[in-house]
Amino acid sequence: MKKIQIGQSDIVSSQIALGCMRMADLGVNKASEVIETAIDSGINFFDHADIYGSGQSEIIFSQALKNSDISRDDLIIQSKCGIRDGFYDFSKDHIIHSVEGILERLDTDYLDILALHRPDALIEPTEVAEAFYQLKKSGKVNYFGVSNFSTSHVDLLQQALFDKLVVNQLQFGLKHAGMVAHNMNVNMENETGINRDGAVLDHMRMKNITIQAWSPFQYGYFDGVFIDHPDFIKLNNSLEKLAQKYHVTKNGIAIAWISRHPANIQTIIGTMNTGRIKEVTDASDVVLTRQEWYELYQAAGFNLL
Ligand SMILES: NC(=O)c1ccc[n+]([C@@H]2O[C@H](COP(=O)([O-])OP(=O)(O)OC[C@H]3O[C@@H](n4cnc5c(N)ncnc54)[C@H](OP(=O)(O)O)[C@@H]3O)[C@@H](O)[C@H]2O)c1
Repeated sequence: MKKIQIGQSDIVSSQIALGCMRMADLGVNKASEVIETAIDSGINFFDHADIYGSGQSEIIFSQALKNSDISRDDLIIQSKCGIRDGFYDFSKDHIIHSVEGILERLDTDYLDILALHRPDALIEPTEVAEAFYQLKKSGKVNYFGVSNFSTSHVDLLQQALFDKLVVNQLQFGLKHAGMVAHNMNVNMENETGINRDGAVLDHMRMKNITIQAWSPFQYGYFDGVFIDHPDFIKLNNSLEKLAQKYHVTKNGIAIAWISRHPANIQTIIGTMNTGRIKEVTDASDVVLTRQEWYELYQAAGFNLL
């Protein structure tokens, strides 16, 4: 498994991370099995959010860790906060209170990374900076990041912060690749050419902020999984052809497509199926050729001019 440096931090992580959004419904034994499989497969990074399963995902995760021989210090644990019931909240009190809840549920003294989950229209960067400063000083959070932030929103927050933001978590995958595709359609009067994120991919590369790709197998916004979906036959045929060539699965090739991008994107897979975790990590050494990367890009429905 390839290791990557996370932003300008001293964290060295597996390029593939396990997202724990779907862990809430697992029993503790099953969750232990999932975590152990991930670790045995080379994954050392686990992504959470306070809202996953209304906090239950973090609780099951910590119980599962206790149920295993895994040491917390061998793991990189990230969680997110800022989404509340019907509104977003980046106030200092809420951020600090959220982290206290996260640490209690995860039963740990510190988070490696805390990310703000979705932009709060009412953000006060200096207030966020105060919260981050207090959390860092108390040893409760080592590094900070954001999620679903545009370029300008990252800059707005960064200019008030003492520490560099280290991650920006964004939806990205073969069926959600607008951040690549708009650059390929620059100045064209078509839909794909619309820059919806402020050129976030280029900007994160320039600022050395790691992009974390969430929901890599989904099309639309949680509309479903594109692997084996009858609406995406061309894409599945290309995935299958490459899966056979590299002796891996279509899921594995779909992640290899993300990893091949030179931005060193970290992919957060969300499967709770141990077989699928192995499939994907087994393919982590696959390096697609340029031609293969572009074949998949076009099979996914994107054009070259
Ligand atoms: N920052 C944000 O706003 C945000 C939003 C969403 C998610 N996330 C993070 O990203 C992580 C991943 O999200 P995700 O779970 O949506 O990503 P995902 O890995 O694209 O999707 C996982 C889901 O797809 C299913 N799946 C995968 N391959 C399949 C196949 N070949 N056939 C049938 N089903 C298949 C999995 O089922 P099985 O479990 O049965 O394999 C699971 O239900 C989350 O855990 C979370 O940490 C962040």
